[in-house]
Amino acid sequence: MTEQSPVTQTNAARVAQSPDGQVVTAVRHYTDSLFSFRITRPASLRFRSGEFVMIGLMGDNGKPLMRAYSIASPNWDEELEFYSIKVADGPLTSKLQHIQEGDHVILRPKPVGTLVHDALIPGKRLWLFSTGTGFAPFASLLRDPETFEKFEQVIVTHTCRDVAELTYGRELVESVKTDEMLRELIGEENLDKLVYYPTTTREESPKMGRITHLIENGELFSDLGVPALDPETDRAMVCGSLAFNLDIKALLEKAGLREGANSDPAEFVIEKAFVG
Ligand code: A2P
Repeated sequence: MTEQSPVTQTNAARVAQSPDGQVVTAVRHYTDSLFSFRITRPASLRFRSGEFVMIGLMGDNGKPLMRAYSIASPNWDEELEFYSIKVADGPLTSKLQHIQEGDHVILRPKPVGTLVHDALIPGKRLWLFSTGTGFAPFASLLRDPETFEKFEQVIVTHTCRDVAELTYGRELVESVKTDEMLRELIGEENLDKLVYYPTTTREESPKMGRITHLIENGELFSDLGVPALDPETDRAMVCGSLAFNLDIKALLEKAGLREGANSDPAEFVIEKAFVG
């Protein structure tokens, strides 16, 4: 054969040539099971902070292998950021964890999702409840000035098994408070609205326990000096494992909050943190 046939091209070459191919601009590993990466953003891609898109690589069979990923960057960012787990035998993340700057990934530029301001009715206090990589959509929302314009207080909780798993979220919150550009964008007068409440469930840390337990026993509210959940004032976004989402949903409904959607905004919204 004098010419390389398309089926013998490398995966990388095929992704690079795909109309949805985007270039990896940065990768950072946090633990054996967590990493974040940034890619180029198609000029035509518009999204609302908190939404997700499909990201993937070319599978061994030559077909794209795609998974849903929350966009962790805010809608004004010129690149797209994602925060991912690494699963040793996960069809996508077993490969995706090895990407490096300059590699290509596939992005389907059709953002969707319910963790958006449009799905909540106005309120005073916004709770962002997350576990693990469920922090990703909140990394987007916390860098969006709209989040702080709409609420008097924004409380983000992040629960992980170990301390190192909190790093991405902790640094993100720190950057909102200390990065000159983010401070200016969000507004100095808004920075005190942001409250960060990290907890671990396995490794020793200053605050331990599942957030669900800390809601039930009232410690979350006494620690922060805020009243218990109230449908008049409180709004919530939830992102974690399915079991976590169901448990939080039950607690929010017990407090009188109703689940909202884009077409029917209410007091809280939920999305599963996606794995693969
Ligand atoms: P725990 O260590 O008690 O299971 P995972 O890695 O399994 O997705 O969990 C991430 C974090 O979310 C862990 O700290 C875990 O606590 C916590 N978690 C898991 N399921 C629930 C749940 N149903 N309600 C509250 N927290 C949960």
